Amino acid sequence: MRASGELAELARKVLPRAAYEFYAAGSDEEISVGEAAAAWRGRRLLPRVLRDVSSVETGVDLLGTRLASPVLAGPTAFHRMAHDEGETATAAGVAAAGSLLVLSSRATRHPEDVAAVAGPWWYQVYWLRDAEITRRQVDRAVAAGARALVLTVDAPYVPPRATSGLPLPLPEDDELCRSVGIGTRLPGWEQDPSLGLDAIGRLHRMSGLPVLVKGVLRADDARACVAAGAAGLIVSNHGGRQLDRAVSSADALPAVAAAVGTEVPVLVDGGIRTGTDVLVALALGARAVLLGRPVVWSLALGGAAGVTTLLDSYRAQLATSMALAGCARLADIDGELLYGGP
Ligand SMILES: Cc1cc2nc3c(=O)[nH]c(=O)nc-3n(C[C@H](O)[C@H](O)[C@H](O)COP(=O)(O)O)c2cc1C
Repeated sequence: MRASGELAELARKVLPRAAYEFYAAGSDEEISVGEAAAAWRGRRLLPRVLRDVSSVETGVDLLGTRLASPVLAGPTAFHRMAHDEGETATAAGVAAAGSLLVLSSRATRHPEDVAAVAGPWWYQVYWLRDAEITRRQVDRAVAAGARALVLTVDAPYVPPRATSGLPLPLPEDDELCRSVGIGTRLPGWEQDPSLGLDAIGRLHRMSGLPVLVKGVLRADDARACVAAGAAGLIVSNHGGRQLDRAVSSADALPAVAAAVGTEVPVLVDGGIRTGTDVLVALALGARAVLLGRPVVWSLALGGAAGVTTLLDSYRAQLATSMALAGCARLADIDGELLYGGP
């Protein structure tokens, strides 16, 4: 498995500068983005021995979908800046690895085109000031076959990101890119900052799909979202791109997982860079993890095949680390595997 720094550095060499900066950047002083990976790497394991790990099973059921491993491709915007085929290449690569794609509502390919080559996929939603645009996007994703929606709630506004401000090399033939990516952002396409807990139920009724809430870092918010009908939670600080100095997801996860218990699955993302990070995340209470930037870097470097290789290597490393930790099944992974506890 390539070290994540190496992957980012190789991608930097092949991407236009503005695209690389857009993908890599955190917000403001980039404190949260800088801390994300270290928070996983700082945890130490207490491996179990003599547990028959002659065969290790990484498969997981998530909201009724069977996946090869608990490593998913999270929602990231504008894949056509990384690869000509954009999100269709990502989707094909994810499907070949037996994983699941969360398609960004800032995708640069139409959901129908993505669905045609995808395995199971969920659709990420920003609730926009112009609710009609949101409804159109959701209707389209539902019709195209999304199995769940992911409502991102940590972005009522978009803070300054640490880039040099070069124009993004986005395709101009695309309505979404013209509306949110090139030149000024149209007000109707901005996220609605007045959103409240009732949005979860509204989105569920609008779509008929389970709604996961992405961007939760607090136990009280987690409980409130579940009470409001969330079918799952994603512990995330948006890859350090929203509130700078927001706590790392590794540090936030245990309290959220404890608050929710087994009621709904808790997922996590942010700085997960190895299969062993995945093991730590599961030990801290996550059911599955999502990758952001590593998927984009792999797409830029190797298209669909690059994305498959990435996800396969996470699965292989997770399996090895599970075996070495004495866990033959995901259910064997618990907080007692962590030195010092969760
Ligand atoms: C380039 C980029 C674009 C992103 N676009 C979205 C998006 O459209 N919707 C969303 O919910 N999250 C978005 N995110 C946040 C990711 O889903 C995820 O929370 C984060 O990237 C995980 O951290 P990682 O990149 O360290 O793996 C984006 C992140 C990056 C880096």
